[in-house]
Amino acid sequence: MKGIVFTEFNEMVETRFSPEMLDEIITECDLTSGGAYTAVGTYDHGELIQMAQALSDKTNTPVEQLVFAFGEHLAVRFSVLFTSFFDATNNTFDFMKTLDNHIHVEVKKLYPDADLPSFSFDDSDASCLIMEYRSSRGLSDLAHGLMTGVIRHYQENITINVEHVVGKEHVRFHLLAQ
Ligand code: HEM
Repeated sequence: MKGIVFTEFNEMVETRFSPEMLDEIITECDLTSGGAYTAVGTYDHGELIQMAQALSDKTNTPVEQLVFAFGEHLAVRFSVLFTSFFDATNNTFDFMKTLDNHIHVEVKKLYPDADLPSFSFDDSDASCLIMEYRSSRGLSDLAHGLMTGVIRHYQENITINVEHVVGKEHVRFHLLAQ
């Protein structure tokens, strides 16, 4: 997993909790990388789960909730770092439909060793976009948070229903325009 995900996670822990909290979880996790992440480096995605679990234990917050909140945070950061993707469309459904065949394709060109999830879409109903997430990394809570952040970016009233097909590795999201 790319370092940018880790540097953003650490940034979120520092601002939402404290720099001390970040130091504590890095020390406790005894990470293979030592916790010194650079945005362009590549690290085991398990380290993110390890840190999220340690944060969960320390803050008595379910890990799902923390990974979801991190997704929301990441959407805001991506809208600043990769503005052009957000400017290319003016609503959530159109943005989402560019995710798999454009955004993540460009991400892969930028970071050839990136491990990206796959998304398929069903837009046969104009008021409901169905997005099917598949990834062996099982980060559907992150995807859920990212989607929520994108909806907030476009200031739309869309609710998300989550259908777990296979655990967190294969999940069908129903985005319903209100
Ligand atoms: C401009 C918008 C976006 C950019 C630039 C972007 C970029 C990235 C990058 C750099 C990674 C890390 C790859 C790696 O660590 O090797 C990633 C992973 C991921 N992205 Fe995106 N992404 C964007 C939008 C989204 C959205 C809207 C979603 C959800 C609908 C999403 C879902 C995910 C998930 C769940 C992962 C984690 C890897 C996995 O589950 O296998 N991304 N993305």
